[in-house]
Amino acid sequence: MKIMFVCLGNICRSPTAHAIARKIAIDMKGQYEISSSGTSAYHIGHKPDARSVTHGNKRGYDFKGIRAQQLTIQDFFTHDYILTMDNQNFEAARSIMPSGSRAKLMPLMAFHPGENITEVPDPYYGGAQGFDLVVDLCEQAIINLFNQLEH
Ligand code: 4NP
Repeated sequence: MKIMFVCLGNICRSPTAHAIARKIAIDMKGQYEISSSGTSAYHIGHKPDARSVTHGNKRGYDFKGIRAQQLTIQDFFTHDYILTMDNQNFEAARSIMPSGSRAKLMPLMAFHPGENITEVPDPYYGGAQGFDLVVDLCEQAIINLFNQLEH
């Protein structure tokens, strides 16, 4: 099972989801390959934002080796799930989704138990709270995602 998380820059939200999911995937012992990408080319090759790493590390998640890459059309043929962080990412991904896509394209927050939670807000221009919220939202949704995939 190959799962890719997608945000805009691939330096804040989707690396956080990536770090969380790869840790939970190890605990699940299933065959999972986790990756992440951004819809923009702004940060290709960059390490995750230091603020995301600080907040993620504090909660037990490791970002080692994660580098920003841009979502490609090919990714739709090589993944099972492509999970976006907000509506803008979803629309950008949908606009390049090829016919015959293997991947299901969905908002990650479709797996969050909160009924009114549909997006992971972009924390880039905000304070520490926003980065904590990213971990909270991604963690809950990813736990639910794996529970659904395992049953
Ligand atoms: P991300 O956050 O999409 O969660 O990685 C952002 C990172 C960079 C920018 C915007 C959002 N930026 O405008 O450079």
